[in-house]
Amino acid sequence: MRRLLPDPGETSIDELLDGYHPFESPPAGRPFVGANMITTLDGRASIQGRSKDLGSEVDSEFLVKLRRRFDAVMVGAGTIRAERYGRIVRDADARAKRERIGLSPDPLAVIISGRLDLPFDAPIFTCGAGEVLIFTSSDQPVPETATPTRVKQVNGPIAIEKVLGHLRNECGIRAVLCEGGPQLFGQLEAADAVDDLFLTISPELVGGEPSPRILEGTLTEPRRKRLEELLEHDGELFARYRPRR
Ligand SMILES: NC(=O)c1ccc[n+]([C@@H]2O[C@H](COP(=O)([O-])OP(=O)(O)OC[C@H]3O[C@@H](n4cnc5c(N)ncnc54)[C@H](OP(=O)(O)O)[C@@H]3O)[C@@H](O)[C@H]2O)c1
Repeated sequence: MRRLLPDPGETSIDELLDGYHPFESPPAGRPFVGANMITTLDGRASIQGRSKDLGSEVDSEFLVKLRRRFDAVMVGAGTIRAERYGRIVRDADARAKRERIGLSPDPLAVIISGRLDLPFDAPIFTCGAGEVLIFTSSDQPVPETATPTRVKQVNGPIAIEKVLGHLRNECGIRAVLCEGGPQLFGQLEAADAVDDLFLTISPELVGGEPSPRILEGTLTEPRRKRLEELLEHDGELFARYRPRR
């Protein structure tokens, strides 16, 4: 892997993430928020309804290792429906390493769902490990799941600022990684609550099929970012953007 910015040279994912401790610096009233997204060259966020096949093995490795640095991993219902999901940190050594840097072995899995139309047969609910917290405006009961699952029922629309406040103040979450999808990412950006955006640019054009962009929803104005870091592997670009606050 080549680092193009800030100091050109060879690097690795481990070197890159070594010492990345977002949980050490939560802003007031909410967790530190990282977002990890992938786009094609023509701005698409999925192929045939999924994002899994957009990235290379290096991108998957980056995703897996980035998760190890956060107290919680958050996704929207659309992403759970499309990608399903299993245990967030599957590797036992990685869970032990998390504990050594002051994190719980398993990150809290946070799901935002209006309708509670979730795949309760997906491994994340059936594996029995870790914990899931669902924010929903539905009053439907949640089926019994092997993985401990809590529900925070919200009256009316779910405001992302309130979700973040709840995670920080009621759950002690210091850093949360949002893995999408586009609607949830859009709400976080609209709230100006993304502290680190890890964006993979896949070197391919996918064309025609309907597919979202990485951000769906409305921003009151264009949000210009500062490029903090840029890496390259086999034509795939890995950028880290920070806000210009
Ligand atoms: N390229 C990438 O980096 C990336 C990352 C993740 C996903 N994806 C792709 O994106 C697609 C899914 O897109 P998406 O925008 O639907 O994903 P999403 O943001 O994960 O899910 C949107 C859904 O989440 C629920 N939701 C989100 N915010 C809410 C709120 N404030 N209040 C209530 N409900 C809320 C709603 O579901 P309900 O009301 O129906 O429960 C909404 O329809 C899939 O094809 C997936 O593969 C791409």
